[in-house]
Order: sequence, then C-alpha cells, then structure tokens
Amino acid sequence: MWTLLLIGAILLVVAVKAFHWLQARATIPSLHTRYVLITGCDSGFGRRLAQRLDNMGCHVFAACLTSSSVTELSGESSERLKALQMDVTKDEDIERALREVEAALPENKGLWAIVNNAGIFGASGVAEMMTRKDFLAPLEVNLLGMTQVTRMFLPLVRRERGRVVNTTSVVGRFALSPAPYVASKFAAAGYTDMLRRELLRHPISVHSIQPGAFAATNLFDTENIRKSVTRVFQATPPHVQQVYGHDFVEKSMEAMDMTCRYLMDANPEEVVDAYVHALTSKRPSTTYTVGKNGNFFFRPMWMMPEWLADWIISFMVTPPANEFSS
Ligand SMILES: NC(=O)c1ccc[n+]([C@@H]2O[C@H](COP(=O)([O-])OP(=O)(O)OC[C@H]3O[C@@H](n4cnc5c(N)ncnc54)[C@H](OP(=O)(O)O)[C@@H]3O)[C@@H](O)[C@H]2O)c1
Repeated sequence: MWTLLLIGAILLVVAVKAFHWLQARATIPSLHTRYVLITGCDSGFGRRLAQRLDNMGCHVFAACLTSSSVTELSGESSERLKALQMDVTKDEDIERALREVEAALPENKGLWAIVNNAGIFGASGVAEMMTRKDFLAPLEVNLLGMTQVTRMFLPLVRRERGRVVNTTSVVGRFALSPAPYVASKFAAAGYTDMLRRELLRHPISVHSIQPGAFAATNLFDTENIRKSVTRVFQATPPHVQQVYGHDFVEKSMEAMDMTCRYLMDANPEEVVDAYVHALTSKRPSTTYTVGKNGNFFFRPMWMMPEWLADWIISFMVTPPANEFSS
C-alpha cells in the first residue's frame, strides 16, 4: 500500500515536471510579427541579442549609445532591424526614441517586449573610497535608465500584452565588489521585483536576467578597471590611502585577477539564450540565473549562512596594509 502511494507520488512529480519542461520549450507563435526594443546594443549581450532576434525573423529596435554603433549595426543587419541612438540617462533621448519607434510601428501595433540591457561597471576600488559621483554613475544607467525606459515604453507593451525583460546580475543578489555597481544592481533587482508584483494583474509579465560574470563583453575591461582603481585611489585622502597601503592598485588588480581566473564564464551566448527564452517561450521563467559561476558559486553563496559567505569573500577583496589588518 505505502509502496504504491510512494510510486504514485513519484510518478505525479515526474509528470508535473515533464509538463512544465514541455511548456517551457513551447514558443510563442508569429515571431515575425513582433517588435522588440533592446537598449545597449553597441556591444556585448545587447548587440548579440539584436542580431540573434533579427536572424530569427523578429523586428528589432536596437538602441545604441553612439551614432557610430547605429551605422555599424544597421549595415550588418536585415531591414527588419532598426538601429536608433538612445542614451538611457537622457530623458530627451528616450523621448526621441519613443517617437521614432511609434512612427516605425504599423498602425495599432505595440511592442512585444522591452529589454533593459544597457549597463556600465562604473568606478572600481573599495567602498570606503567611493564618492557620491562614483555611486551616481552606475545608478544613472543601471537603475534610472531602466526605470525611465520602462516608464516611457510600457504603454506600447501593454498594447501587445507583452513582456519587460530587465538585466540585473548575480551581484544584485550577492554582493561582490565594486560597491557602486553592486548597489545599482541590487536597486535594479528590487525595482524589477516590485514592477513584476505591481503588474501581476496586468496583461504584462516582467522577467529578470541575472548573468554571472562573463569575460567576453566590454564590461570587465582590465585596463579600464586599472585606470579606475588608480583614479579612485589618487582622489582618496592620504589618511585613508595609508590604511590600504601604497600598493593598493596592485593588490586590487591581484584580487580582480583571482576573481576573473576562477569566476569568469566564457560563452556569452548562454546569456543570449536566456534572453531569447524570456522573449519567446510560452512559459518564461521569472528569473534566469545564467552561467556556471552564477549557478555553482553565487547561488550557493546566497543560500549559505552569512558568516560563512563573508569569510569566503574576505579572501577576494582588497586587504588593508599589514599594520591595519586585524
Ligand atoms: N558581462 C557580464 O559578466 C555581466 C554580468 C552581469 C550583468 N551584466 C549586465 O549585462 C548588461 C550588458 O552588459 P555587457 O556585459 O554586454 O557589457 P557591454 O558590452 O559593456 O554592454 C553594455 C552596453 O550598454 C551600453 N551603454 C552604456 N551606457 C549607456 C547609456 N548611458 N545608454 C545606453 N547604452 C549604454 C554600452 O555602450 P558602449 O559599448 O558604447 O559603451 C554597451 O553597448 C549590463 O546591464 C551589465 O551590467 C553583465
């Protein structure tokens, strides 16, 4: 009797899992009639996603920061892809892009989705050295760019009963330096969760892509990071510089090298796959944690006791000079 019940329960779980798996594989119909706006298409995940969707027959509005990227992307894509210039920190750019999108859409047609992908890494160094300006820069792009673009384009998404896909990060769930980037991604994750809950009874769904660390984009440019650490250190008052020691830049780069060596994933197409699933599956996930480091390092880190996670991370951040070490 108990054995039969156990077998029945196992079969039920397997059947439910198989049903969900099959549903997640099923895709929405008529992609070639749908329009998607993506921000930050100059490079990286945004650029790859724009090209992937274009190849799949979808209509893409690929928003780029620079006009040279607009020209370049237009030159290498089909006529379905319309590249446009939009700095997400500038309201006038967002408004102009909205007018361009509205003018290009067929009558009574809206957007199937907006993908808030644009992002910057911002200043590198330790939190104690970061100024208000250092914190503001990534917040402007990674949080406020996302909130403003969503606010302006959401009525077009509502028209299609569509989707909002926001790019956060695993460091928006588990902090691993630098603090301004981490703070901006925690804020973006909080905003995305709230938006999703507020829109639960609307015909719009909200999804977040939470990549681990991927080396193949422009985000982690080691030379830029070195320049940034040097600038931040030089702008720090001498008594704080003393705490971290004269070799702070070198120690920071060593910590960064170690993180990169052990925690970088190689294949950015995994992130593009997650975007495509969020945009085209009949049953998209709420959150996509992407990559080996995301799933096998960051995920366990946010599930383990904080004291243990703190202890592990203490080996990955820039230490103080010997005489200030506890
Ligand atoms: N790479 C990773 O490991 C990783 C991990 C987690 C999350 N993410 C997130 O994934 C997203 C894409 O990053 P990525 O790795 O593909 O890096 P990326 O190659 O640097 O792409 C970021 C894109 O955003 C654009 N951008 C920057 N500031 C902008 C602004 N003010 N307005 C509009 N566009 C702007 C950049 O343009 P320019 O190229 O002209 O500067 C670039 O096209 C970002 O939100 C990033 O935080 C990346």
